[in-house]
Amino acid sequence: MKAAVFHGPNQPLKIEQVEIDEPREREVLMRTVASGVCHSDLHFVDGLYQWPAPAILGHEGAGIVEKVGSQVTYIKPGDHVIACLTVFCGYCEMCMSGHLNLCTNRAATQRTPQDKPRLSQGGKPMGQFADLSTYAEKMLVHENALVKIGDDMPLDRAALIGCGVMTGVGAALNTAKVEPGSTVAVFGAGGVGLAVIQGARLAGARQIIAIDKFEHKLALAKRLGATDAVDASSADPVEKIREMTGGVDYSFEAIGLKVAAEQAYQSLKAGGVATIVGMVPLGQKVEVDGFTLLSERRIQGCFMGSNRFRIDMPRYIEFYKQGRLNLDDMITRRGKLEDVNEAFRAMKAGEVARTVLMFE
Ligand SMILES: NC(=O)c1ccc[n+]([C@@H]2O[C@H](COP(=O)([O-])OP(=O)(O)OC[C@H]3O[C@@H](n4cnc5c(N)ncnc54)[C@H](O)[C@@H]3O)[C@@H](O)[C@H]2O)c1
Ligand SMILES: [Zn+2]
Ligand SMILES: [Zn+2]
Repeated sequence: MKAAVFHGPNQPLKIEQVEIDEPREREVLMRTVASGVCHSDLHFVDGLYQWPAPAILGHEGAGIVEKVGSQVTYIKPGDHVIACLTVFCGYCEMCMSGHLNLCTNRAATQRTPQDKPRLSQGGKPMGQFADLSTYAEKMLVHENALVKIGDDMPLDRAALIGCGVMTGVGAALNTAKVEPGSTVAVFGAGGVGLAVIQGARLAGARQIIAIDKFEHKLALAKRLGATDAVDASSADPVEKIREMTGGVDYSFEAIGLKVAAEQAYQSLKAGGVATIVGMVPLGQKVEVDGFTLLSERRIQGCFMGSNRFRIDMPRYIEFYKQGRLNLDDMITRRGKLEDVNEAFRAMKAGEVARTVLMFE
């Protein structure tokens, strides 16, 4: 099959032929129909995070099941599915207490180093990024990486739910549990930030302030539910937010910058909570003034929207069908697998909310 292969940081992905194995016991072979291009992949390409090369990146995908292993009962060939990188074992302490996104026993869902690898090239193992690798024509994953969805859900929009939408909407609804009538500030109006904004709107926030450095991103944020916008390229966002609200109940960082994470915290009112969704580069610390903790401000992390994706994703599809979650406008461009490097460039340049790669 054709795949976009990562050969190390600061090099473009290369389109190459890669071999994919047959599904074993609880594995599923699926045809990738669409894959979103999320900024998290770019962090690895830029070397801000590390992943061993060679590997196939991509973790925001949807497709159609082709073949299942002998013990798979959850799905069958022909089913439409969304993949999620928070593959869960189902029986560790985190899974049993409902925190499937924090499963501590992923190894139970992977092949061992002694097994034949799921992906290979010329007899050598090929890394499977996040146990998914969506930048490829096919995917071989554990069944607990998948949620079954209806055939009537367009798979390009379904793919977005796989990471960005799950993460953003989940950050608002699951991680922060935004309350009706509250005030919210969202730093970064890319794929994830726009989803946070929509999550806050769904939760009934009365004021949602979008912060970005591009005018067109802020315009889209307003269309998707932001009540106010702050252009971070011309104003100090903390000052602006404090001026507008006196400090917000909830803030979110959806960029991946130390400074923005600190600004999100500084924008809070007493008792407020900052949720850091962006991936701050490895080795960097997020700092707060110690005395400000006396006002019971809080700062917390977020992994994939604190999801239980087999519950959350079908709900978001329902919201989409009801017109309450706008996914159509979050896709700025569609491309082919070969356009993946261009998608990274456009993302860095701030030209797109999301590019979705289409395989058919
Ligand atoms: N925690 C998780 O589980 C999780 C999941 C998915 C993505 N992420 C992370 O979330 C972050 C956002 O991902 P994305 O796909 O939406 O990226 P994106 O590139 O689409 O969006 C980032 C946005 O931030 C804006 N921005 C950049 N610098 C800014 C600045 N100084 N001030 C204000 N705005 C600025 C950009 O214009 C863009 O609109 C990334 O760091 C990504 O790795 C985390
Ligand atoms: Zn992602
Ligand atoms: Zn587990």
